[in-house]
Amino acid sequence: MLRFNWCQTNLISLRVVEYTGPESFGNLYSVKSVPVLVRFFELASSQPEVNSHFPGAEVYYMPNKKFTSTWDELVFDASYKDDFLTMAINTERLNRTSNKFTMLEDRIILLHGPPGTGKTSLCQGLAQKVSIRLCTVYQKKQLVEIGAATLLSKFFSESAKIVDQIFRSLADRCEKNPDSFYFVLIDEVESLAMSRESNHQRGEPQDSLRATNAFLTGLDRLKPYPNILVMCTSNLKDSIDTAFLSRCGCNAIEVGLPSVRLQYDILKGQLQSLIEQNIIAHDTNVLPSIELAKQQTIGGSETDGARLIRLLNVIQENMEPPSARFLRQLPIKSISRYLKRKDCNLRMAFGYMERIISSMGSVLSDKNAFIEDLDGRCGTKTPDPDESKKTITIFSNTRKRTWQIFVDGELCQDDRKKIISLLNN
Ligand SMILES: Nc1ncnc2c1ncn2[C@@H]1O[C@H](COP(=O)(O)OP(=O)(O)O)[C@@H](O)[C@H]1O
Ligand SMILES: [Mg+2]
Repeated sequence: MLRFNWCQTNLISLRVVEYTGPESFGNLYSVKSVPVLVRFFELASSQPEVNSHFPGAEVYYMPNKKFTSTWDELVFDASYKDDFLTMAINTERLNRTSNKFTMLEDRIILLHGPPGTGKTSLCQGLAQKVSIRLCTVYQKKQLVEIGAATLLSKFFSESAKIVDQIFRSLADRCEKNPDSFYFVLIDEVESLAMSRESNHQRGEPQDSLRATNAFLTGLDRLKPYPNILVMCTSNLKDSIDTAFLSRCGCNAIEVGLPSVRLQYDILKGQLQSLIEQNIIAHDTNVLPSIELAKQQTIGGSETDGARLIRLLNVIQENMEPPSARFLRQLPIKSISRYLKRKDCNLRMAFGYMERIISSMGSVLSDKNAFIEDLDGRCGTKTPDPDESKKTITIFSNTRKRTWQIFVDGELCQDDRKKIISLLNN
């Protein structure tokens, strides 16, 4: 076990990150009854290195300070991240231990899906986790981040040459440094692996076709080496060349928009962390689970959980399904947009979030709506001194939706007429 004196001088933090074993009541485990595996690592500087062998790319030594919390901050369904990590760990281990005949040839992972769903962060988090797991196997770990779109525009007309250079350098390093592991992250890979057929139809410049060819040849160059993992992300899987997709095989994984449950968990996590940082004043930093929150809505009470569920309803009614990026930013963006004094409580934060969402929706588009409460205030019972703006609530009798419109200053009879006529047109 760890020696106390050594820890006093060298240890910055000690965290339990994973438990794999039989479940026990209350999730309490005795270190005497489970094998404990401790991994020591030092975090590298968060500044990327500019390396002439990898033009246009950013190179990080791993594990890196920049990605300390990346993995933990990502909210996905229960086993999603675990499965992803297991796949990467097994791929590396099997390739290191198997012979050339049984080796997995293409170690390319493609994450595809809408923007803001965590594809880039998942790859960065994965590289961090795997580097820690492999700390005793490989001496040096590096992450080479390539922004495909930036690379093409920066080195326009020379991009094929640059792509070729990058992959030659990677293959050379893998060969010369078997005690190093390389993660390559190619963001927005569709720019580099654009379908050659559609490229041709659109009359794209030859350079872009050459870059795609150089990329595919480059990937093949990396095949013999077990000490490299290529991770790619794409928002546009449909425009990717089939030759590239076939190299990813079953490692092409879709990352979708968050389900309502995940939306709840993301918002809950963000609010809890704003409470912890005292940006939102609240008596507890533990908000209820979605199950509990749903029960709380039944009695119509104004609990934290019930308000969070109501916010999700407002989101669903007023906008397209949101990305995780949007949800993570929502609390802080709403506060920065509407807070007019120093302190903010949770009730105000909910009000601001509903307000920003409502302002995004097509509020006046429902012809069958009528105005119910011209002097209502943001749905709160006690008027908030900070809420200087008047709000009106519109109930649609056809779609049973509740909207709020925020109106600066007093709402006169004329305004009411204007709104009613807008709704009826
Ligand atoms: N599932 C998620 N849970 C929590 N935060 C997320 C999630 N997906 C994305 N984010 C956050 O949204 C931002 C953008 O994520 P990013 O990885 O760049 O998405 P993408 O590459 O899919 O466009 C990051 O700050 C990330 O932490
Ligand atoms: Mg991305």
